[in-house]
Amino acid sequence: MDQLTIEGGHRLRGNIRVSGAKNAALPVLAATLLTGGTFSIRNLPRLRDIYTFKRLLTDLGVTIEETDASTDRNAPVLEVDSTSLKSYEAPYDLVRTMRASILVLGPLLARSGRARVSLPGGCAIGARPIDLHLKGLELMGARLKLREGYVDAKARRLKGAQIYLDIPSVTGTENLMMAASLAKGTTIIKNAAREPEIVSLGEMLNKMGAKIRGLGSDTLTIEGVDDLSPVDWEIMPDRIETGTFMMAVGASGGELILDGCMPDHLQAVISKLRSTGLKIDISGRSISVSKKGQLKSVDIKTAPYPGFPTDLQAQIMVLMALSGGLSVITETIFENRFMHVAELRRLGANINVEGRSAIIKGVKDLKGAPVMATDLRASACLVLAGLAAKGTTTISRVYHLDRGYEKIEEKLSRVGAKILREKTGQLF
Ligand code: UD1
Repeated sequence: MDQLTIEGGHRLRGNIRVSGAKNAALPVLAATLLTGGTFSIRNLPRLRDIYTFKRLLTDLGVTIEETDASTDRNAPVLEVDSTSLKSYEAPYDLVRTMRASILVLGPLLARSGRARVSLPGGCAIGARPIDLHLKGLELMGARLKLREGYVDAKARRLKGAQIYLDIPSVTGTENLMMAASLAKGTTIIKNAAREPEIVSLGEMLNKMGAKIRGLGSDTLTIEGVDDLSPVDWEIMPDRIETGTFMMAVGASGGELILDGCMPDHLQAVISKLRSTGLKIDISGRSISVSKKGQLKSVDIKTAPYPGFPTDLQAQIMVLMALSGGLSVITETIFENRFMHVAELRRLGANINVEGRSAIIKGVKDLKGAPVMATDLRASACLVLAGLAAKGTTTISRVYHLDRGYEKIEEKLSRVGAKILREKTGQLF
């Protein structure tokens, strides 16, 4: 098992190129199940979740070949041939390690009329049910049975339906949008999620021949078609990775230029970070961030896009822990996403949790200590805290981090951080 050792207190300076977005890449990979033929996918991040999803696809019969990096970004190009599927089952062993495996349900059912996908079960940051995915598919005529921990779905051909999502679920919207693309008739999804990754998936589906209108709004109209075709596609830049590096400047000081990102996708984050006193300049697809003086405290409430993303809540808490005042961070998306609080306290942060809010009283500095990563974004928060803290911080269980951050220690080391990955020999 790997751990990271960080010597805090070093300013960051230089350029970092942002990787392809995990949360855009996973639905794009799932969409390759909708039709036979070979897709060419560029700018995929090298992440544990992407490897898990590739394994899921190959188990289903998809052939995947990685060609050498052909772009300056050094990201592999994937040739994905989904002509002959040999299975329609996503097994528990894979689904339990990555909830997003549920994204194969809609495409498999729409293309093969059959899907058997393990229920994801609980996860560290909350219950995270999939009832909205299932309800939508049922409205489209799928026959669903829940047995032995699996959802067993059948449909001769899905049909268009009017679907209202009680909550604008991201993967729920993606699953239903993919399924509806091949349904007979028109589907309208109301209260759909509006995240940029959904827009990107919809644009890919439209390039494949789907007829989706309303992308980026809360109402999607999907006119089903009989066939889709494979396409070449480039994964959009990761807005959460971009935001994490912007906040790294808030934690350690210095100045970073983040290249190859989409500043438009980060408006809520940029606005909050400017209120903390960070200086942020945007030039095309680059963002420059610098820190001058003490951080100011701000209140933050997570919300579906275009609100402040829950996936950056843990990271901005580090900045508030070091701010000059009192701030309240309210988590409205997931009910149990404050596990990083106990670890930040070990570093000297003054944080109390009351229900869905964390009340943070800024302290002068954090002090290095051993801490443990509990989930993906919590691990990123601990890396930022380690960069800021005086002395040495060791973070164990960094496999969580590897699910969603590509070579984070290499990227940070190149811009001045002192951060080292080591194998501990410990199993846990
Ligand atoms: C996606 C992102 C994840 C991000 C989250 C919220 C991917 C692969 N993952 O996760 O990084 O943190 O959006 O921005 O894109 N819910 C239900 N029933 C459902 C589905 C969801 O009650 O059927 C609830 C969840 O428990 C949660 C809320 O809706 O409280 C939002 O979840 P959702 O948008 O579905 O998150 P994911 O798509 O799993």
